[in-house]
Amino acid sequence: MKLSWGFLTCLGLVSQASSQSYWYETIAHQGVSPYNPQGSAYQVFRNVKAFGAKGDGVTDDTAAINAAISSGSRCVEGPPPGGCQSSTTSPAVVYFPEGTYLISSSILPYYFTQLIGNPNAMPVLKATASFSGLGLIDADPYGSSVPDYVTTNVFYRQIRNFVFDTTNVASGTQVRGIHWPTSQATSLQNCVFQLSQASGNQHQGVFIENGSGGFLTDLVFYGGSPAMSIGSQQFTSRNLTFHNSVTAISQLWDWGWTYIGLSINNCGTGLDISATGTVNGVANGLEVGSVTLIDSTISNTPIGIRTSRASGTYPETGGSLALENVVLTNVPTAVQGPSGVSLAGTTGTMTIGAYVEGNSYSASSTTPTTIAGTVSAFPRPASLLSGSDYYTRSKPQYQNLAVSQFSSVRTAGARGDGVTDDSAAIQSIITSATAAGNIVYFDAGIYKVTTTIYIPPGAKLVGETYPVIMGSGSYFSDVNNPQPVVRVGSTAGESGVVEWSDMIVSTQGAASGAILIEWNLASPAATPSGMWDVHTRIGGYAGSDLQVAQCAVGAAQPNTNCIAAFQSMHITPIGSGVYMENVWLWSADHDIDDSQDTQITVYSGRGLLIESSTGNVWLIGTAVEHHTLYQYQFTNTQNVFMGFIQTETPYYQPSPEATSPFSPVVSRNDPDFGVYCAGRPSTCNDAWALRILSSHDMLVYGAGLYSFFDNYSTDCSAHNATVYNEVCQTQIFGIDEGGSSETYSGSTVYIYGLNTLGSVSMIDRDGTSIAAQSANTNMYTEIVAMYVT
Ligand SMILES: *[C@@H]1O[C@H](CO)[C@@H](O)[C@H](O)[C@H]1NC(C)=O
Ligand SMILES: *[C@@H]1O[C@H](CO)[C@@H](O)[C@H](O)[C@H]1NC(C)=O
Ligand SMILES: *[C@@H]1O[C@H](CO)[C@@H](O)[C@H](O)[C@H]1NC(C)=O
Ligand SMILES: *[C@@H]1O[C@H](CO)[C@@H](O)[C@H](O)[C@H]1NC(C)=O
Repeated sequence: MKLSWGFLTCLGLVSQASSQSYWYETIAHQGVSPYNPQGSAYQVFRNVKAFGAKGDGVTDDTAAINAAISSGSRCVEGPPPGGCQSSTTSPAVVYFPEGTYLISSSILPYYFTQLIGNPNAMPVLKATASFSGLGLIDADPYGSSVPDYVTTNVFYRQIRNFVFDTTNVASGTQVRGIHWPTSQATSLQNCVFQLSQASGNQHQGVFIENGSGGFLTDLVFYGGSPAMSIGSQQFTSRNLTFHNSVTAISQLWDWGWTYIGLSINNCGTGLDISATGTVNGVANGLEVGSVTLIDSTISNTPIGIRTSRASGTYPETGGSLALENVVLTNVPTAVQGPSGVSLAGTTGTMTIGAYVEGNSYSASSTTPTTIAGTVSAFPRPASLLSGSDYYTRSKPQYQNLAVSQFSSVRTAGARGDGVTDDSAAIQSIITSATAAGNIVYFDAGIYKVTTTIYIPPGAKLVGETYPVIMGSGSYFSDVNNPQPVVRVGSTAGESGVVEWSDMIVSTQGAASGAILIEWNLASPAATPSGMWDVHTRIGGYAGSDLQVAQCAVGAAQPNTNCIAAFQSMHITPIGSGVYMENVWLWSADHDIDDSQDTQITVYSGRGLLIESSTGNVWLIGTAVEHHTLYQYQFTNTQNVFMGFIQTETPYYQPSPEATSPFSPVVSRNDPDFGVYCAGRPSTCNDAWALRILSSHDMLVYGAGLYSFFDNYSTDCSAHNATVYNEVCQTQIFGIDEGGSSETYSGSTVYIYGLNTLGSVSMIDRDGTSIAAQSANTNMYTEIVAMYVT
């Protein structure tokens, strides 16, 4: 029998087209944004081809793509009153099917835009020869002289699955792939940059000049000079590959930056951290604070790392550097200093076990040793490794699955309108889809729940942009009997694996008894559970009832209507094997939906508590901010990888002090500031950023623990040519320190690249200040390059 082509297609026997198709392109697009001024008419999902983009490699698609972005009521950049600084009410996913899209001027993604390409047939954004603009994608265009969105307040955006091609542009003309000044809960993932490979070219793949990032992963660069030109307060970057770049990475400035898994091939210079400028009024100061580089390879590149740090350079801890497990093949100079080779390389192959430049401390030393040389590598727990590298895993996009394998929560009857109680509908679809082996797809929306949502072993959940699960009502209001909004694995103890990505867990109004995420599930270290781009957000957005109107800074404090969470996240003693990547646990300091980003006072008791007795937790690019008692606390746990971790102390403290409004719970090993701070200055009563109690093999590869404010004033952390204040709080990071009964002991802690800001003491252990800020000064933070045990 002779079958016609059409007949085969009808039967679904021709799989050619489907191997390139992507479930997200074809799934029903039912996402909503209930607080958008357009109401139900607001469109979250936009396919650029529906807006006239051709993707044929011939038509200029710039205007059509920008029309897809700007359609509807969106947050258009610019200073108020005309422009918008930030908004949670106008999320957009701008989707690009396969194609080559010719671009003549910048694509301008507004606030809260996800640009997503088909990962099975990655769309190409190709610059015309006469392209003009700061980047093919300019995510924060310049107004008069500064970026339109304040770079440190740019949250919730992603770009993934694109090829950027600037090769039409003359090699000597400056052109960039992405201009990406950005902050927490943002990412670039799975992009390829085809740049000029000519010597002396002026092409760059990624340009970041400012912000408080952020996460970059799975990027491949061909050419560029440099391929990446980047500066930010702190950042985590993983799995970046460079071929034939004049310089792979030029670090403009930073406080701390963690690189995991760089692969640098056939470049001139690998990582250039030698930038200098006027720092605190001093000329020729080192602008790069600290860099941590691990699990990387550099091949056929004359200079691996270029630095300006040397004996006597300013500031004293500038250019702090830590390398661990870096393999060099034909890299004659490993580290090039300002006037000579700091670490020799090889024309053969060698592995740098560990190499550190900067100030070093141990548990028994209270004065720093300034070092520049090889050191013992940190002992790596086998359970955290894959081969000799730390285990890593990128956010799954499920690109090989058919659309029939996804179960939409809105199709299942959940509304996501911020008003309807969606508890039963959500629980029902999570249970049934997981039993059927399907993935639970959360369409964009705000899903109000009034009881705990339970996630069983085997569940996979994925959100469209960032749908919100919002705990509301009396169930979450008893501070003496806290209840989870989302519980992963039952309290009876369960094993299995869960995958969860692109979502926010939140609360509405007073919720002093809400634990936003409770993790009881035990997963194997070899195949851990994962959380990618899953965040908590406590207050500061439309629908939360925790905005400027309810939680004004000037109100009488503590304002009980704004006690909004007991805890952001808790991994209990029976939970284990958790991989967390690009996770931001945020108790709001300002109202994202206020036109002036006005500050608010919202109280959340605790940040991230890890008590897992087995441990095996990876924290890759995580941040925890503005919780009352602590940001990160580890109790009786082990085998934890952290890099980069970032915190901020609540801006209101110490007014009220950290003793208010939450009483310490002894069974949860809460800090008891009433005891610990007796007889000490008022600024002792500020939240701990990082507290490690009786825990082993705690490995920190880059940290930034910041305290900018006292009672909403930054005078306590002011830095300029004449003033260098670091007095917002007396202590910020404690090891076996400050418990209600002081019975903690024996922790083993290993740190590279510790930044603190606004704290008199940088590390406290067993009742002693180990590292004083005054001994480790830098541009803005203070930096300890290495601390061991
Ligand atoms: C970064 O932005 C902040 C304001 O958000 C500004 O004060 C600072 O000067 C900027 N830094 C650089 C290096 O552009
Ligand atoms: C690194 O990124 C490349 C390109 O996206 C990908 O193929 C590879 O699997 C990634 N490797 C790791 C270890 O994540
Ligand atoms: C905190 O600042 C406010 C506003 O400046 C002031 O009125 C109040 O007295 C301050 N509180 C303390 C304890 O200093
Ligand atoms: C430095 O900062 C202090 C404290 O904020 C301020 O009083 C002073 O005017 C500043 N000096 C300069 C030169 O900016």
